[in-house]
Amino acid sequence: ARKPVAVRATRVASMAQLSQDELKQQAAWKAVDYVKSGMVVGLGTGSTAAFAVDRIGDLLASGELKDIVGVPTSVRTYEQAKGRGIPLATLDEQPKLDVAIDGADEVDPNLDVVKGRGGALLREKMVEMASAKFVCIVDDSKLVEGLGGSKLAMPVEIVQFCHLYTLNRLQALPEVAGCVAKLRMEGDAPYVTDNSNYIVDLYFDTPIADSQAASKAILALEGVVDHGLFLDMVDVCIIAGKEGMEVKE
Ligand code: 5RP
Repeated sequence: ARKPVAVRATRVASMAQLSQDELKQQAAWKAVDYVKSGMVVGLGTGSTAAFAVDRIGDLLASGELKDIVGVPTSVRTYEQAKGRGIPLATLDEQPKLDVAIDGADEVDPNLDVVKGRGGALLREKMVEMASAKFVCIVDDSKLVEGLGGSKLAMPVEIVQFCHLYTLNRLQALPEVAGCVAKLRMEGDAPYVTDNSNYIVDLYFDTPIADSQAASKAILALEGVVDHGLFLDMVDVCIIAGKEGMEVKE
């Protein structure tokens, strides 16, 4: 079980004026304080993580950071980081990371999170599991009382082979009873991940009752590659809101 969450809150009056994007940027910049010269850094995917990637690129360019190696969690992030001049490696080349910085779609009070609405959940989970420290960065719109509670998608990456069969079996699992499963589409065609898989999005009316049990049951289905429940993985969560910044660890 995770240790009790310690909270450091900084009230910053000037943050009241910030837009949601500016709040994401504040959280991302704060997370980059955890990056020191010589580190191997997991680079997350999504609009919040993109601010951290840009910041690391800027600090490398100015010489404030040196000898960083980034491990990107998606093709999108690979392209962004390459464009910012960040030296890059894969998990094959750098299997042990010092820190990973990434956004999330939902964060519960235990710092368990849902990720993958951007479609990068598998590589994100692989990179973040390989990191000594996972720093999660969000604006406060991502906070929920229970995972699944935002009424937005909880993604599951599945193989393409007989995807409707897998979708139906997912929806029938008692551990996610009552969810509605939908194949993620991009225009008229199924959305295809960086790993050439499909995504089934699960929608809940009420939060998932037991996310550990749901995680195990979903992973046990043949045809499932991984899911967006990231349980007991976050070491530090930086939450930016109009009231100020909270660092939970
Ligand atoms: C991508 C992710 C993202 O981190 C998550 O969707 C949050 O994205 P954003 O920062 O754009 O809100 O898990 O797979």
